[in-house]
Amino acid sequence: MKQTWQPKQNIVLIGFMGCGKSTVGNRLSWKYKIALEDTDKMIERQQNTTIKEIFATQGEEAFRQMETDLLEALPQKKYIRIISVGGGTPVRACNRSLLKKCGVVIYLRIQPESVYERLKGDQNRPLLQCEDPLSRIRELLAQREDAYESCADAIIDVDHLTLDQVTDRIGKIMKGKQV
Ligand code: S3P
Repeated sequence: MKQTWQPKQNIVLIGFMGCGKSTVGNRLSWKYKIALEDTDKMIERQQNTTIKEIFATQGEEAFRQMETDLLEALPQKKYIRIISVGGGTPVRACNRSLLKKCGVVIYLRIQPESVYERLKGDQNRPLLQCEDPLSRIRELLAQREDAYESCADAIIDVDHLTLDQVTDRIGKIMKGKQV
């Protein structure tokens, strides 16, 4: 299907680990033929290592600073794109203002149980490598909820939606912002 409509502002995807930011970002990128910038992947490229390694060798604070440094450089680019950020990025207040400057911020909201189901056995999220990941997910989500919501221009509850339903909703949101 030929897609003629294109967003006129950047689409910024935020949300907890496992909510589908990268998958949705990839689908939107394909659908609208615009670039996807995934800040986790950008940091891994810059540092020439994995996030897991960064957490292990330099610690979480160093990683958080890398996220902020990257966000500071993002709004300067001229082309329209999709920006997907790590689950913890909106926790820092300065990052929330930077994200809002980047474009329309869409929060993909997810319930802890869905995160647990989706990420069971995942070994690449350092924050979830613990005895009781479900409790950790609940705890982190509760701590972050206000940060996510205060940063968002729109919220989509993704638990029971297909990938197509999520991308269609984002399309509608973006069209609504353009009129
Ligand atoms: C993190 C989420 C991860 C990654 C890092 C920390 C977090 O990204 O940035 O492991 O604090 O929630 P995803 O949300 O893409 O998994």
